[in-house]
Amino acid sequence: MPLHQTIQFNPTTQILIWKITESFEELLDKVVLKEKTQLRLNGMKSDLHKRGFLSVRMLMQEAGFTDLDLHYDQFGKPYLSCHNHISITHSHNFSAIIISEETVGIDIELQREKILRIADKFVDKEFDYLNPDLLEEYIKKLTVIWGAKEAIFKIRNEKGISFKDHIRVNPFSLEESKTLASLHFDDLIKDFVVYYEEIENFTLVYALEK
Ligand SMILES: CC(C)(COP(=O)(O)OP(=O)(O)OC[C@H]1O[C@@H](n2cnc3c(N)ncnc32)[C@H](O)[C@@H]1OP(=O)(O)O)[C@@H](O)C(=O)NCCC(=O)NCCS
Repeated sequence: MPLHQTIQFNPTTQILIWKITESFEELLDKVVLKEKTQLRLNGMKSDLHKRGFLSVRMLMQEAGFTDLDLHYDQFGKPYLSCHNHISITHSHNFSAIIISEETVGIDIELQREKILRIADKFVDKEFDYLNPDLLEEYIKKLTVIWGAKEAIFKIRNEKGISFKDHIRVNPFSLEESKTLASLHFDDLIKDFVVYYEEIENFTLVYALEK
């Protein structure tokens, strides 16, 4: 199945999600690629990574852009030729992009128990409202927190940001689909609104700077 979902979040913000079921060849056949992108693709070893990368170009095309409009800064952060912001994510058989006039970040993560082992590395104050006894909810909430921190990191893209020490995600419930978060870094506090939703056994998170 190609385009899985489109969310018209507001008049100038769109989220597009792809469920990757196509082969590498099928995807390659459908996308326009500039030489720089083709070279990057040639260097990728994993078939899943290649398909994720190409499916992002499919999403770009769905949104009315092509790979020719997509560029990367020296840190790997993507930007568009026009004034809109873009953020990109891919994980296993899903990929997603967010395009907006606002500063935005996006992340999609598979929900898995493995996150329990690394929680200490990216969670700090959030432990106050998490309940490890409710295992399924705990894993899902950790995945939201991880995704929120990745999405905010993608927005700010500054060297030295620690998920654990510098980004805080406010208490939230899985039913609400929305919370607040803040980045405390370099004597500055930046606030974000974070949205999350489940897609099959994945968690999609996107953040907008307030
Ligand atoms: C760069 C990073 C944000 C990518 O996230 P990821 O979950 O590994 O992978 P995703 O698929 O969600 O995102 C990859 C996309 O992010 C984008 N990206 C890469 N570097 C980026 C940056 N510095 N800023 C913003 N976006 C970036 C790219 O578009 C990339 O996909 P593409 O190159 O195919 O276009 C992540 O690897 C990272 O460095 N995180 C911060 C490090 C950290 O503190 N980690 C954990 C601490 S416990």
